[in-house]
Formats: sequence, structure tokens, C-alpha cells
Amino acid sequence: MNSKQAKVFITRRLPVELAKLEQIAKIEIWEERQPPPEQILLEKARSANGIICLLTDPIDKRLIESATDLKVISQMAVGYDNIDIATATAKMIPVGHTPGVLTDTTADFTWALLMTAARRLLEADRFTRSGLWKTWEPDLLLGASITGATLGIIGFGRIGQAIARRAQGFDMRILYTGKNRSDLHLENTLGVDFVSLERLLEESDFVTIHTPLSRDTYHLLSDRQFELMKPDAILINTARGAVVDPKALYRALSKGQIAGAALDVTEPEPLPSDSPLLTLDNLIITPHIASASRQTREKMANMAIENLIAGLNGDRLPYCVNPEVYH
Ligand code: DGY
Repeated sequence: MNSKQAKVFITRRLPVELAKLEQIAKIEIWEERQPPPEQILLEKARSANGIICLLTDPIDKRLIESATDLKVISQMAVGYDNIDIATATAKMIPVGHTPGVLTDTTADFTWALLMTAARRLLEADRFTRSGLWKTWEPDLLLGASITGATLGIIGFGRIGQAIARRAQGFDMRILYTGKNRSDLHLENTLGVDFVSLERLLEESDFVTIHTPLSRDTYHLLSDRQFELMKPDAILINTARGAVVDPKALYRALSKGQIAGAALDVTEPEPLPSDSPLLTLDNLIITPHIASASRQTREKMANMAIENLIAGLNGDRLPYCVNPEVYH
């Protein structure tokens, strides 16, 4: 393909200049704040050679199979559970993503959520503004100590490890679980112990989720898992909403089976306005912004463009999810 005639569809405005891409492709951008409706996404993909998409765009089997001219799918995110990778691979379409650049930003935000939930910052702010604060009291808004507590990390990839590095600074006992055990050198450097999910849930004061969403991790935390947790435990999720069963979480939080939760991701996103979760005082919810620093979002957008240009030029994607397409 002559890449000068390449047609590219970008499913939302990106926070960077597109000059480099404009030199080789005709670009169409979906300008709305809401994602393109599925039918429009399908039509745009059908006439595109390359697509830059977000985690809110369902790049499913039907779309990939009908997009006969598609040479590359480039996702501006590290997670790609919205993309049918098996179908893309079967069609020999490389899929790009943006690993690495958002690791520390996401870990920082996770830490902010952990501290906010542990020390009840949002409740404290609401309390102070409401005029209810009259005097210093020995038991006013008591929270949980972080230093010296036990932290359980579910999923020990780049972000899980970045969380462990932060926890070391707080002298925490750090447990982790995941599909595979890490090598001993890494475990020793980070001072972490590999345990089963059950043991992690039983022993942790804070549980933080950093596993991708897959068939294996869908509703990984549900009623049975909440039953195992300590009554003063706090759950943090900055990975994918559907790793946690929202109904079970509501039950656990409302009957005090766990003390609190802080979610940057939910199932669905956003939660419907009548979701019972929104009525809980011991729950913090943010709108999927763990990677949202200006610098990081620019890096993610530039990586997505880099992947896209490589794909249009027939080069290997620098950050490829399905390198099998090159075998
Ligand atoms: C990702 O990249 O997968 C995050 O969820 C958004 O930054």
C-alpha cells in the first residue's frame, strides 16, 4: 500500500500534534466527547487502513472481520480487553498498545487512592465544609495506619511492581499473587512474598488490583473472596472494573464485611446514577483517571501514533500485543 493514501480513523481527539501522521495519511477524527456509536465505528473502520482507538471502543470480531483494508489497530492504553486480539491475529493485523509510560503515573494515583481511603480524606473534607467540626476530638474520623500494614497486590506486572516499590517506603509487609511467580531476585529486591489469592485476602489490610481483565479475572473478587477479607481491609482497583463483582462489593461494603474501597474503574463505566454503590460513604470513585497526568497522556498518544505509522508503513510495531503476526 502507498502509505500516502492511507486512511486513518481516530476515535477521539488526542492531546498531541498529528503533523507526522498527516504527512502520510488522510486522517478523520471523531470530534465528540462520547465514543462513536458502534454502527459508526463499524462503518469508519470498514473504510480505514489504520485506526487509533481507546479502551471505550469495542473492536470486536464483527468489526475486525468487516474491516477488510485494516492494516493496523493502535490502542491508546496499555490494556486491550476491548479488542478481539484472536480475530486480529487470525487476520494478521498487528495491534499496538502503550505499555511502560503510564506505570508510575498509575501507581502514584493508586497510592493516592489508598491514602485517601485509609485516612478518610474525602469524608474529612465534607465534614469540615459542612460546619460540623467543632473541636479536636480523640476519636474524630479515625482511619487506618498505612506504615507497617500488610499490602496485598493482585497482579504483579509493571504496575504491581511499581506499587511494591512505593510500599517499601512505608515499611509495609508486601504480599502478591498472580498467574506466575516472579523470579527470586525481584522478590528479594522488592521484599515481597508470593502467596495464594486466598491467603492474600485473609492477611492484607489493603488489597490493590493490577491484573488485566480476561476470562480468568472476570469477577475475580466476589462474595466468597470478600468473606475472606478482614473487616478493616480496604480494596483499591485501578485496573479494570469487571475484575470486581459490583453487587458483591456493595454487599461487602454495606454490611461492613470490609471497611472501604476506592475505585478508579467500575463495571460498567460510568456507573448508572441509581447504582447502590453511589450511596455508600465508605467508597471513593474516580472516573478512570489513574494514568491522567498531562505528560503521560501525551506520551501515550505519541506511542499510539508511532505504532500506527509503523503499521501503515508495513514495519513491525514497536509496542505490539500480538507479535505472532510477524512469524
Ligand atoms: C490503560 O492504559 O489501560 C488504562 O486503563 C488507561 O490509561
